[in-house]
Amino acid sequence: MAPSILSADYARLAEEIESVRQEADVLHVDVMDAHFVPNLTIGPPVVAWIRRHTDLYLDCHLMMDDPGQYLEAFRDAGADGCSVHVEVGGTGELVAKMRSLGLGAGLAVNPETAFEEAEPWLEEIDLLLLMTVHPGFGGQSFIEEVVGKVGRARKAIDEKGLAVEIQVDGGIDAATVPAVVRAGARLLVAGSAIFGQADRVAAARSIREAAAAAIGSGSL
Ligand code: DX5
Ligand code: ZN
Repeated sequence: MAPSILSADYARLAEEIESVRQEADVLHVDVMDAHFVPNLTIGPPVVAWIRRHTDLYLDCHLMMDDPGQYLEAFRDAGADGCSVHVEVGGTGELVAKMRSLGLGAGLAVNPETAFEEAEPWLEEIDLLLLMTVHPGFGGQSFIEEVVGKVGRARKAIDEKGLAVEIQVDGGIDAATVPAVVRAGARLLVAGSAIFGQADRVAAARSIREAAAAAIGSGSL
């Protein structure tokens, strides 16, 4: 489970993070630059403040045209891993930079971008982030068509014997999660489905349980 703080109350961020702590395996931090996506969120200074309040793994999703210029600042702020979008180009260099900075290396793929665009870098990354909405905003509807892409990615990763995690992001809740986990996703970002509920732990747990039930596993 990767709760996304995009749907949290930013004026009470430390408490909001604490409210999901128990069910969070990583904390998903959405960074938007108003260029790559038509929305603007936070940057390294806020990540540094988050770092002071939690020991959770900070998974920073960089929806930015020029992530390379900021990777070091995110690392210095305390990010554990970053994901850059394949659509911005320069992927080989960006992945190498994340690696040399000691960051977990993620590659994000928009719904309309083919998995094959990311495939050449599978050997070099830790995380493949398949967007299940058009990035930019929380609370959008899950795009069903991406499920096939998750399946293709799972197959390619398994055939190559790699340990790359497949993360899905956007419109994930207890109703949409079964299809993506059956297709092979294992890291589940959820923003509004968790922070939109009064009992965040129960909300996250219901997604986790729906995922485990879908693949017949008690281990998620
Ligand atoms: C959207 C972000 C997501 C967002 C998901 O561009 O990348 O991480 O928080 O929000 P929900 O879960 O509400 O679709
Ligand atoms: Zn995200």
